[in-house]
Amino acid sequence: MKHIIIAITGASGGLYALRLLRALLTEGHHAHVIVSKFGRYVLHDETLLPSGGALRIQLTRLYGEDIMNGELTEYKIGDLAAPIASGSVIVDGMTVIPCSMKSLSAITHGTSSTLIERAADVTLKEARPLILVPRETPLNRIHLRNMLAVSEAGAHIVPAMPAFYQKPKTFDDIADFIAGRVLNLLGIEQKLFAPWRAEENESVEDEGRQNAR
Ligand SMILES: Cc1cc2nc3c(=O)[nH]c(=O)nc-3n(C[C@H](O)[C@H](O)[C@H](O)COP(=O)(O)O)c2cc1C
Repeated sequence: MKHIIIAITGASGGLYALRLLRALLTEGHHAHVIVSKFGRYVLHDETLLPSGGALRIQLTRLYGEDIMNGELTEYKIGDLAAPIASGSVIVDGMTVIPCSMKSLSAITHGTSSTLIERAADVTLKEARPLILVPRETPLNRIHLRNMLAVSEAGAHIVPAMPAFYQKPKTFDDIADFIAGRVLNLLGIEQKLFAPWRAEENESVEDEGRQNAR
């Protein structure tokens, strides 16, 4: 069982976080979840997550009993005395998914004034994987500079840029692509989408060769 901190902030794309949580919990991992005020707002505004009750119950109502295979601990964003605010508590990594430009800025500058910012700061100082999934468009130079600076400090940037070569049929398929990429960087095998297949590559090459003939 891996211990992963999942921070959900107020950028569009809460579905990425829900799909990641579904995958982690179904596989029996322990998710330590922090949701910002606007993270909660956007999550409920954009997704079918039912409101009322603990997040674990909401997720079970959305995705079924398999959610119960894992553990979920929810923390208050202002709880700077939470265990995950200290580097002495061992976790396997953290992701901020989706990551607003405000949270990106705060993490980049080491502000540490909320539990999300502090846990990210701790994750970097302890040299554990920190995966940020920023979402904004278009990007200004402040956003771009912050991404470069936090990447130089050791974070992984996984922009919410889903690919379409998997031929997604649903929003869940699209979100699973990003969730799967995050799982890979956390060192957890992802089963959300099939990797690009060599046979398909070969058939595309064959087709290209035939067309060239
Ligand atoms: C509906 C809605 C969608 C938003 N989408 C984005 C977004 O995609 N990216 C972003 O950086 N901010 C977005 N914002 C603005 C952030 O929520 C806002 O900057 C907030 O202060 C972020 O705080 P947090 O990082 O603590 O959640 C959105 C706000 C709302 C109300």
